[in-house]
Amino acid sequence: MEDLLSHELFGIKFKNPVWTASGTFSYGLEVAKLYDLSLLGAIVVKGLSLKPRKGNMPERIVETPAGMLNSIGLQNPGVEYFINETLPQLRQYDTRIFANVFGEDEEEYLAVAEKLDKADGVDGLELNVSCPNVKKGGIAFGNDPQVLYDLVYKIKKVTKKPLLVKLSPNVTNILDTADACVNAKADGLVLINTLLGVAIDVEKEKPILSTITGGLSGPAILPIAVRMIWQVYAKYGKKVPIIGVGGISNVQDALQHILAGACAIQVGTANFYDPYSPIKIIEGLKEHLKKKGYKHYSQLIGKAHQMTIKEV
Ligand code: FUM
Repeated sequence: MEDLLSHELFGIKFKNPVWTASGTFSYGLEVAKLYDLSLLGAIVVKGLSLKPRKGNMPERIVETPAGMLNSIGLQNPGVEYFINETLPQLRQYDTRIFANVFGEDEEEYLAVAEKLDKADGVDGLELNVSCPNVKKGGIAFGNDPQVLYDLVYKIKKVTKKPLLVKLSPNVTNILDTADACVNAKADGLVLINTLLGVAIDVEKEKPILSTITGGLSGPAILPIAVRMIWQVYAKYGKKVPIIGVGGISNVQDALQHILAGACAIQVGTANFYDPYSPIKIIEGLKEHLKKKGYKHYSQLIGKAHQMTIKEV
C-alpha cells in the first residue's frame, strides 16, 4: 500500500502529520470511545504543572464569530497524576504522546520537564510559554526573547526528549521569539497559541469571562497562523521543524499550514464540535495527494514559497 503520510521528525517515526492540540483533546481517553487513537500522528496532552491546578473561575469559555475565547487557567491534575494514572492507559495506543509543560516560574518548568523526561511513553515535550490566561508563567515567559532563550536553554539541559516550543502570536514580530528558541536549540516550534480577546455581554454590560480576557482560537485565526508559519519558514526553511496549529478544521486548512511550511499540523478547537475532524483530515490528505499525483505529503511542505514576487 502506498505510504503517503508516514515520516520521521526529531529521530522519531510518525504514522502521519496530524496531531491533536493541547487543551482541546484532554488526555485523549474520552475520545478513545469514539475512534482508535492509534490512527493519530500524535496527541499533545493538556498543559501539566507540578501540582494540580483548579483553573480559573467560570465563565471560562465563550463562542465568538468563527471562533472561541477560552480562559481555563491551565486546570490539570498535576504531572505525577498524569504519569502514574493517565499515561499507562494512553500507552495502549500506537501513537506519539507529547506532554505540554507549564510552570509558574523557572523552577516549576524545570521540575515538570525533568519528571516527564523520565516518563516512559512520553515521546516529547511541548513547552507552554504562550498561555494568556494565568497570572504567573505562560505568556510572561514567551514574550520576552531573552527570558524565553534562558528557559529553553535550561530545559534542554534536563531533557533528552525532543523539545518543541509553542509560541504566542501576541507579539509584534514572531521572528524575535522564534529566533530565541532556535538559538537555545529547541527541536521545533509550534505556531500558534491563541490571540488575546475580550467578549462583552451587552445585557449585563460587562465582560463575559471571569478573567476579562481570554485566548481566541478557531477558524477566525487561520490566516494569522498561516502568516506566522510563513514568516518563520521564510527565514529557516526546513532547518527548523514547524508544527502548525491555529484555525484548522478541514483538509484545506491543514494544506494551507503545510504549504506555508508546517511539517505537521495540530487540530484544536475543531475537536470540540467535530471530534472526528483529525481523522477526516488524515483521509482528506491522502485523497488530495492521490488526486494531485504526489508520492508523499512532504513534497508540499513550504511549497507555496516557490512562487516569484510577480505572482503574489
Ligand atoms: O487557559 C488555558 O488553560 C489555556 C492554555 C493555553 O492556551 O495554553
